[in-house]
Amino acid sequence: MKGIISRNSSRTPWSGQALYTKAFLSVYDWFALGLHCRFIWQCPPSHVLELYNQHISRNHLDIGVGTGYFLDKCRFPMEHPRLVLIDVNPNSLAVAQKRLERYHPQVYRGDILEPLCINTPGFDSIGLSHLLHCLPGTMDTKGIVFQNIMPLLNPGGVVFGTTFLYEGIKRNPLANYMFWWTNLLGFMTNKQDSMDGLARNLKRYFSESHIELRGCGALFWALK
Ligand SMILES: C[S@@+](CC[C@H](N)C(=O)[O-])C[C@H]1O[C@@H](n2cnc3c(N)ncnc32)[C@H](O)[C@@H]1O
Repeated sequence: MKGIISRNSSRTPWSGQALYTKAFLSVYDWFALGLHCRFIWQCPPSHVLELYNQHISRNHLDIGVGTGYFLDKCRFPMEHPRLVLIDVNPNSLAVAQKRLERYHPQVYRGDILEPLCINTPGFDSIGLSHLLHCLPGTMDTKGIVFQNIMPLLNPGGVVFGTTFLYEGIKRNPLANYMFWWTNLLGFMTNKQDSMDGLARNLKRYFSESHIELRGCGALFWALK
């Protein structure tokens, strides 16, 4: 790991990163992506993979990496891309770094809710997959994420990702039940997250943006 790049990298134990223990990461791909995303949130991983294939560049930063599933499965536009990973949780970073070692990723521990003190050339794409719903606050306060990544994104660069929305979204009973639990435990904070809120915050920071809804999942991209 290269180092810690934000002031407060270890947040309260029940915040959205605390779930990512070694044990949970070992089942994450089938349990969270395979089971929950497909059947409960009704946004199968294939849609997210498609988003990665459309937008990932040869010079990519991924934030909130989990197990590195999408970076492992997606098609980079070249064999040896520049790949940098940032996560607040060292377990996620270790698992993703190992899985993606063929790309020799640079790895930093940092909290995306804080300004990132990282002295590195800019990126042409930044991925934020399944990250915003893990963060505390409302969509307007989570907008700080876009402010914090802005200095790292090259002009013309793209930010893309997906997040589970709640407000104004059609949900099945199982999704209602799971959102209730995950919000109660602090693994997710999305009860006030809506399409309008996401669109408003993307428009605040980017010249062009797009959101597509699949089940409870909002798949988005935005250009600097
Ligand atoms: C739901 S996982 C998403 C993993 C992966 N991107 C995917 O789509 O499967 C959320 C990840 O975001 C990280 N995370 C949560 N809060 C964060 C924060 N404030 N700053 C950086 N990473 C954070 C967690 O540690 C975890 O690795």
